[in-house]
Amino acid sequence: MTLNCISRISLPNRSAAPLGAYRSLAGICLAAASLLALGCGETIDDVLEGDGDAFTSIYESEEFQTCSGCHAPGAPGRVDGIETTQNWSTRDAAHTTLKRTAAGLIGNNAGCNGVPFLGATAEQSLLVASLDEDVRAGYDNPSFPGCTPDAIADQTLKIGGPLPAALLQQLKDWVNDGAP
Ligand code: HEC
Repeated sequence: MTLNCISRISLPNRSAAPLGAYRSLAGICLAAASLLALGCGETIDDVLEGDGDAFTSIYESEEFQTCSGCHAPGAPGRVDGIETTQNWSTRDAAHTTLKRTAAGLIGNNAGCNGVPFLGATAEQSLLVASLDEDVRAGYDNPSFPGCTPDAIADQTLKIGGPLPAALLQQLKDWVNDGAP
């Protein structure tokens, strides 16, 4: 929904309306805009979704804020064998590095090195598989036969429990929308 203020409010005939009428309409617009914490021309969706960016709200969730404790250069939880490509230290770094491929995994998890975090769908995404038991169980990437469900480490163990269903769905929707 767009609040276009004056242009959407039907004005009285311009030539007939005294200047004061415009001033008071502008005042109403400003008052309405500030009540809604919107600037003229900004959309309510922009405000609700943080500039309309689904990834920002995923990144800012309590659960995804924990990823940077380990997946960031110099993070306190960085250990040998951790996945090293992801950098969750900022929203933009996370957004950029999630478009890349997994690296640094050792032992049982080594079969997923080189695998893109994001696939064409949520079901085909290593990122989602690492956070959702069902997606993990069905994960099959013909280009990386070594990245079996057993090779994909369950990250909910690292963040203290499963993602809330709504947040998991938000993540899946974002991936299915092409991870904008
Ligand atoms: C306590 C440290 C820690 C936290 C917190 C953590 N990770 Fe990890 N992550 C690891 C380690 C270590 C590995 C290597 C495999 C393993 O041992 O789990 C890993 C592996 C991964 C992998 C590769 C999985 C595979 O086996 O192919 C992905 C994807 C991943 N993490 C995403 C995340 C996301 C997203 C978050 C936040 C929701 C997160 N991790 C939180 C430590 C962590």
